[in-house]
Amino acid sequence: MRILAVESSCDESAAAVLDGQRGLLAHVLYSQAQLHRLYGGVVPELASRDHVQRLLPLIMSVLKQAHTAPAELTAVAYTAGPGLAGALLTGAALARSLAFALGIPAIAVHHLEGHLLAALLEPEVPALPHVALLVSGGHTMLLEVQGVGAYRLLGETRDDAAGEAFDKSAKLLGLPYPGGPELARLATEGRAGAFVFPRPMLDRPGLEFSFSGLKTAVVHAVRGIELTRAVVADVARGVEEAIVETLAAKALRALDETNLETLVVCGGVAANSRLRERLAAGVAARGGRVYYPRMEFCTDNAAMIAVAGLARLKAGQHEDLGIRVRAQWPLEELPPLGAGGVH
Ligand code: KG4
Ligand code: ZN
Repeated sequence: MRILAVESSCDESAAAVLDGQRGLLAHVLYSQAQLHRLYGGVVPELASRDHVQRLLPLIMSVLKQAHTAPAELTAVAYTAGPGLAGALLTGAALARSLAFALGIPAIAVHHLEGHLLAALLEPEVPALPHVALLVSGGHTMLLEVQGVGAYRLLGETRDDAAGEAFDKSAKLLGLPYPGGPELARLATEGRAGAFVFPRPMLDRPGLEFSFSGLKTAVVHAVRGIELTRAVVADVARGVEEAIVETLAAKALRALDETNLETLVVCGGVAANSRLRERLAAGVAARGGRVYYPRMEFCTDNAAMIAVAGLARLKAGQHEDLGIRVRAQWPLEELPPLGAGGVH
């Protein structure tokens, strides 16, 4: 089995080829960050138009790199949601049409299932069941992963996502879009403890998060102060520490509550080095193990869509001829495939 996957849910156009036996053969990505920087955030219409221009050349290029002719493909997978409707439609229309032309199945993939399964692209795969901390620009969730498609929600954010908190704080500090990685870079120059921000809901039981108060705290902290590079670095350090500490404490609490030893951290914010260090230490201290996808597979990519697509292909799932996407798509609505479906 050899699958082509396409990702276009937000501001990354990406394609990948995954072989059932030989693993990932190639993956390519074009980030639209530069395009949206001028506006301080993603402009949906611009994103859709750019996907239309990028996707086909990316597909040609990834097939070439994977030494794969279209006729060798078993299926075409694509991100069908959640995400920006117009952006999703560009990938869905292209992938569905390509599958039709080749006479092979098209597979609609849930973007978050892609993030959750990205760790399977690494040589050592996490045991099932495990706890997953899924932290992206749009989602912050703790889940018990019992198998492919069998996800039990343990807790999620009541308002802003962790990535959103990084991005909004970065914007308040005058950092360019996308702010999260930029803020993390500056934080390495900042002094620990120079600014201390609230750790929301840490003192309360449960596995819910709330990050919307953080930006207000940042606004108050910097009011009337000259934003020199040193001050921005100190504030960035404080913001990062507050988010990382909150995520880490709740993830460890989730391991305690479920009595599980394995933690998988995924989604764009899983690329944050301080979060990785903090969780590695915290999980090791209680005798467990933590797994992450490599950095480039934490943020949006098509390799993870290929992994999820292959799992669903093996389970016999595929789409009819309609071109459909879901901007909103609760993860719990996915049908389970049973434990260890892709191992
Ligand atoms: O998973 P992703 O690429 O896209 C979504 O599905 O949302 O996640 C993007 C989010 C953005 O909010 C970005 O600022 C954040 O991940 N991010 C980071 C880092 N790299 C990406 N946040 C903190 N530190 C990083 N190194
Ligand atoms: Zn994502």
